[in-house]
Order: sequence, then C-alpha cells, then structure tokens
Amino acid sequence: MTVPVHPSAFAAIGEVVAARRTRKAFNGSAVDRATVEQLLELARWAPTHRMHQPWRFAVLDQPAIHRLIGFLQSDPAIAATPDPAKAQAKLAKLLERLPGASALIQTTWVRHPDPAIDLEDHAAAAAAVQNILLGATALGLASYWSTTAALAHPATLRWCGCDPARESHLACIWLGGSTEDAPPPPRKPLAEIARFL
Ligand SMILES: Cc1cc2nc3c(=O)[nH]c(=O)nc-3n(C[C@H](O)[C@H](O)[C@H](O)COP(=O)(O)O)c2cc1C
Repeated sequence: MTVPVHPSAFAAIGEVVAARRTRKAFNGSAVDRATVEQLLELARWAPTHRMHQPWRFAVLDQPAIHRLIGFLQSDPAIAATPDPAKAQAKLAKLLERLPGASALIQTTWVRHPDPAIDLEDHAAAAAAVQNILLGATALGLASYWSTTAALAHPATLRWCGCDPARESHLACIWLGGSTEDAPPPPRKPLAEIARFL
C-alpha cells in the first residue's frame, strides 16, 4: 500500500497538534468506554521497534476513580513518597482533582533487560501516549499527561492490576470535559532545535 497524500489530512493533524494542551480543570462529565477504546486503538498503531508493543494500559472510569481515591487515602506509604513533607500536600491536591476526571488511563511499558532496547520501548510507549492525547483532542476531550508520584507509586500500580516488577509507569493520562483556556507554553524556535545539513 502506498502512503496516501492528503493535504487536508496534514492540515487536520496540524490543527489537532496545535490544539492539544495540558488541561487539568475537568468538569466531572463522563466519557464512555467506546470512546476510550477508540483512543486505545490509536495507541496500538504507534511505531514500535522489533514489534515489542511494550505499552500496557489500565483504564479507570469514574466509579473506578472513586475507588482509587479510597485506596490512595487508605495507604499512608503513598502520601510519604518521595518526600513526606511535600507528598501530603500533593496528594491532597490530587484527591481534590480526581473526582473531576472522566477517565484515567494508567500507562506503563514492559521493561526490557537490555538498556538500549528498554530505552526504545520506553520511546515507543511515549509515542502511544501522544496518539491518545491527539485522539482525545480531536474528539473534543481535554487531556493531561501526569507522572505525579502517587499515581506512579508501585502500590498504586499494583492496585491498577499492573506488575511493577515487570512494568514501569510512563503516564497517567487524564481525560475529561473542560472549558479551561490553556494558552500554549512557548516553544523554542526551529532555528534553535534543528539543523539542516
Ligand atoms: C513525560 C511527561 C510527564 C509529565 N508530567 C506532568 C506532571 O506530572 N504534572 C504536570 O503538571 N504536567 C506534566 N506533564 C505535562 C507538561 O508539563 C506539559 O506538556 C508542558 O507544560 C507543555 O504544555 P502543553 O502540554 O500544553 O504543550 C508531563 C509531560 C510529559 C511529556
């Protein structure tokens, strides 16, 4: 199959890439499972060296998010990581925000014993995360890539059904409805980051 040439597709992708923003103020609306599955379908098609497909996803809908809140409140170890002084306040903020989310996608990648391959697998899983974020934007959902310690904690991963001995946390993808105005943080100009040989 040849690569289809669609100038309109390039324009649409550009629009979605530009519209994607980190938004954290969610309004509590729900998102259905079919929509999340559409996003996970996009994730499956990220590039992956050796076809490792190292990404793994645990999806939490709103009832599961409420159960997660209960879990986070019940385990004092989580509020003590990495720095007990700061973690308490961070956890409190997290617990305040969580009920607003429509869904969370806890994303891990399966670790590889060879560090060079592991790095590539990490990169592949990050590409999968970006596919999800762009898909969410195209569907009008706000999103947010979070690596906050409480959600990345091994106990939280275990609670989500992940095996922290084999997988590491890459992202907690927050999805939700939002009317938050998020101006784009400035990017370095092309001249600073690219050279043409
Ligand atoms: C690997 C990774 C981890 C991130 N973790 C967090 C996080 O824990 N908390 C947060 O507020 N933003 C987090 N972000 C989002 C960035 O802060 C955000 O992308 C950046 O401010 C640029 O804004 P934009 O996404 O609207 O372009 C993370 C982004 C990446 C790529």
